[in-house]
Amino acid sequence: MRILSGIQPSGVLHLGNYFGMMRRMIEYQERGELFCFIVNLHALTSVFDAESLRRNTVDAAVDFLALGLDPDRSYFWVQSDLPEHAELSWYLSNFTPVGLLQRAHSYKDKVEKGLPANAGLFNYPVLMAADILLFRSDVVPVGRDQKQHVEMARDIAIRFNNTYGEVLKVPEVEVKEDVATVPGIDGRKMSKSYNNVIEIFGDRESLENKVMSFVTDSTPVEKPKDPDSCSLFALYRLFAEPDAVTAMAQRYRAGGLKYSDVKQELIELIWDFFTPYRQQREELASDIGRVIDILRLGAKKARRVAAETMDAVREAVGVRYSR
Ligand code: ADP
Ligand code: TRP
Repeated sequence: MRILSGIQPSGVLHLGNYFGMMRRMIEYQERGELFCFIVNLHALTSVFDAESLRRNTVDAAVDFLALGLDPDRSYFWVQSDLPEHAELSWYLSNFTPVGLLQRAHSYKDKVEKGLPANAGLFNYPVLMAADILLFRSDVVPVGRDQKQHVEMARDIAIRFNNTYGEVLKVPEVEVKEDVATVPGIDGRKMSKSYNNVIEIFGDRESLENKVMSFVTDSTPVEKPKDPDSCSLFALYRLFAEPDAVTAMAQRYRAGGLKYSDVKQELIELIWDFFTPYRQQREELASDIGRVIDILRLGAKKARRVAAETMDAVREAVGVRYSR
């Protein structure tokens, strides 16, 4: 089974990215053929500083590798290293009704948040469809926010096939409803656009500052508290062992619990959780040349798979004119 997903290098990767996407991808290596890539062309819709894009791209690669992505067992590359992503996107754009793109929630949300309403942002779903269809993925596991994009990829593939025959494989969407939204330090969804993130590989001081500033309600210490409505507890349960989670819930309900004590415990849990990966990360970061080699090799491997689809597509649409 082929499983595919991409992540934008549009900022420093955070706990929401880890629990919502990265960990799942890394686990998939055990079960199928994993295609995991860094979508720097997509990030161009929101990052307009070349140096930031370069840095974030390499950092995302280092983070993924440190967290356990195995480039020998899976396909791992940077989107711009394969011109086929953009090429297929053009062919597909001729099978993408403008009305379909106009209904994209993500486009409207991003424009509302202040991103420029460029054609690139508008066509974002077409490039994403190309990413998916290029590799004939069986399944595309995404968060709820990306479900509509994968459905659009299906729709575009069906329209293309209606004209040219069964050239493209229509993928299934797999929405992981069980992936809880990781809360940020202001209690809203953790997201770089809310400036409320806890970085996966931030330093100890920044971790302490962020966790200590996590918003909590003003229930007095002695009063019982409800763990289920507390964002701090939601974060705690991602890191603590099940027994510790049960014990903590009891401490909430019993009264006498200080949020600052929960925060202290949480700092240790988060720090310890990522310690082995942090060591890996330091090693990788000290040899960026090796990371670049891994990405180049990954692109080469991915390109061989993409070539099969592109041969069929170029033939089908008629851009191959000499025989
Ligand atoms: P951000 O919201 O910081 O811009 P992205 O939209 O780039 O993050 O998300 C990349 C991936 O990480 C997506 O698959 C998304 O579903 C997942 N993700 C991001 N934030 C969270 C969160 N707070 N909880 C769960 N998953 C998240
Ligand atoms: N749009 C996705 C996001 O912001 C990233 C992405 C690009 C993607 N291409 C993809 C995800 C292909 C899955 C499959 O999270």
